[in-house]
Amino acid sequence: MTRSPVELNVWKIQLSKVEDQLDRYKTYLNQDELARANRFLFDRDRNRFVICRGAMKVLLAEQLDTSPTLIEFEYGEKGKPYLARNTIEFNLSHAKDWAYFGINDSIPLGIDLEFMRPPAHNGWIDIAKRFFAPAEFKSLSALPVDAQAEAFFCCWTQKEAYIKLHGDGLSLPLDQFTVNVDPTSPAKLLTTTWNPADLGQSRLYHLEAPHFYRASVALRSVSPINITYHQFINH
Ligand SMILES: CC(C)(COP(=O)(O)OP(=O)(O)OC[C@H]1O[C@@H](n2cnc3c(N)ncnc32)[C@H](O)[C@@H]1OP(=O)(O)O)[C@@H](O)C(=O)NCCC(=O)NCCS
Repeated sequence: MTRSPVELNVWKIQLSKVEDQLDRYKTYLNQDELARANRFLFDRDRNRFVICRGAMKVLLAEQLDTSPTLIEFEYGEKGKPYLARNTIEFNLSHAKDWAYFGINDSIPLGIDLEFMRPPAHNGWIDIAKRFFAPAEFKSLSALPVDAQAEAFFCCWTQKEAYIKLHGDGLSLPLDQFTVNVDPTSPAKLLTTTWNPADLGQSRLYHLEAPHFYRASVALRSVSPINITYHQFINH
């Protein structure tokens, strides 16, 4: 049986380039969202939140042919936003100056974008040892030291995208599923002890990302995927 491809649209939002729209985006936020924005201590975090919320509402409103002010999110148990009474699926991730917003007609997804910052102390390997599955740590340790940072974020973004697909946050143990750590080969969910059925129903993909960033998406579908990238400007 040939399956028709899943159409995934990925919007790349460069936060500094749309900051001039901040006041307009603020008018799209409801009272709860404005209250959350006001709880951020730093302007940078508050502005990022407003831009990401505003951009999500603008893009969803375009898709639904409505006004951004009429887009109201519902939330899963661990905070994953969704739209009630609609099949549209979406997820957003932000890191430093960029946010990625994935949107699709009906297939649940999780997206993760990370800035490949330098490690604090003993390199990424220590963090991998603490948080990743033993097999992932072993694969990472076997790589030359100068290849480990990219592989670490390749692994991290896939794991986080998978967690975000499920919407469970860190209640889903990071060491109970494994992904392909090698950034030069396709992303892949290799094992999940907590939900083995996922191997036959979910896929991971690397996404193109700006220099020094890595990004991945997880989809609840094993059909081929067709990813279209868009730059978020003039919205
Ligand atoms: C939300 C969560 C799932 C991801 O947080 P994060 O990495 O800080 O943030 P991201 O930029 O990727 O995503 C944040 C966005 O995802 C969406 N989101 C919020 N809760 C979510 C959830 N439970 N599931 C999926 N998406 C969620 C929101 O749009 C949110 O944007 P907002 O913060 O402006 O509201 C967080 O609860 C979490 O558990 N993170 C795991 C962190 C970690 O240590 N990962 C290690 C991976 S190896």
